[in-house]
Amino acid sequence: MKKLFVTLAAVAFIVTGCTQKKPLVLYYSETGTTEAVALELQKQLGADIEKIEAVVPYTGNFQETIERGGREMRSGKLPELKPLKSKIANYDVIFLGYPIWFGTYAMPIASLVKDNDFAGKTIIPFCTFGSGGLDSSSEALKQALPKANILSGYGVRAARVAAAEKELDRFLKENGFKEGALEQLPDFSEQMPVTAEDSIVFSDACSSYQFPLGIPVSVAKRTTDDGTDYKFIAVSRGMGGEEANVTIFVTKGTEPDSKPEFTQVVR
Ligand SMILES: Cc1cc2nc3c(=O)[nH]c(=O)nc-3n(C[C@H](O)[C@H](O)[C@H](O)COP(=O)(O)O)c2cc1C
Repeated sequence: MKKLFVTLAAVAFIVTGCTQKKPLVLYYSETGTTEAVALELQKQLGADIEKIEAVVPYTGNFQETIERGGREMRSGKLPELKPLKSKIANYDVIFLGYPIWFGTYAMPIASLVKDNDFAGKTIIPFCTFGSGGLDSSSEALKQALPKANILSGYGVRAARVAAAEKELDRFLKENGFKEGALEQLPDFSEQMPVTAEDSIVFSDACSSYQFPLGIPVSVAKRTTDDGTDYKFIAVSRGMGGEEANVTIFVTKGTEPDSKPEFTQVVR
């Protein structure tokens, strides 16, 4: 009887193909923020999980990583990674997580995508950042992995990582990775010139950030059960001093004393 069961299981394995139905959460994290999101994803998905590690680890010191990561980026000499324990070939769906470095995915991900075959895989990027980088890093992944199917991803500011649990629940349900009822969010209104009141919301959300985020010129809004979301278009200066429009998302809770927070900057 036991033998028959083993044989049936083997047949089922061959018939259903050799790939896992379970997704893999594969991530790099230097200082633990992306790891917190990866663990939450694993919990909500019941997924397998693996952390990517560099043979020579980054120190966790911001300035040192800026120097090393910048050097690696300029020279194209990517960090060597420890071999993965998971077999990429065994998974159809991979949630790929990373911190944003210099506006794109962290250097260990550059090594990962260069050294592994992701052709035919469905990849859902997730990232953490100081201000933003989900869209730019997803675009970079599409360029680096033209044979993979890169879906819309999830990103959260390191300062708001506590919001990830609830936001991931919505993200996973919206994208069909988790079952459950979901309340539809209303569309944003059209962009309108900012009023004095909107400027105060923008300033309360953005002025404590370490870099100036720009001057808001227009705003769209929507009201949800949790409060009000704002989509500001602001004029900002790039690294070279050039002016550019950026989109800055802000959210403010329903409590009268709740402080507005910016959720991401899209450049
Ligand atoms: C070398 C380096 C470059 C960074 N560049 C950016 C950036 O361009 N934009 C941004 O919003 N945050 C940037 N950050 C902030 C990180 O993305 C953020 O702190 C992230 O949550 C760290 O994740 P971890 O704790 O998983 O390593 C940078 C951090 C480092 C160390």
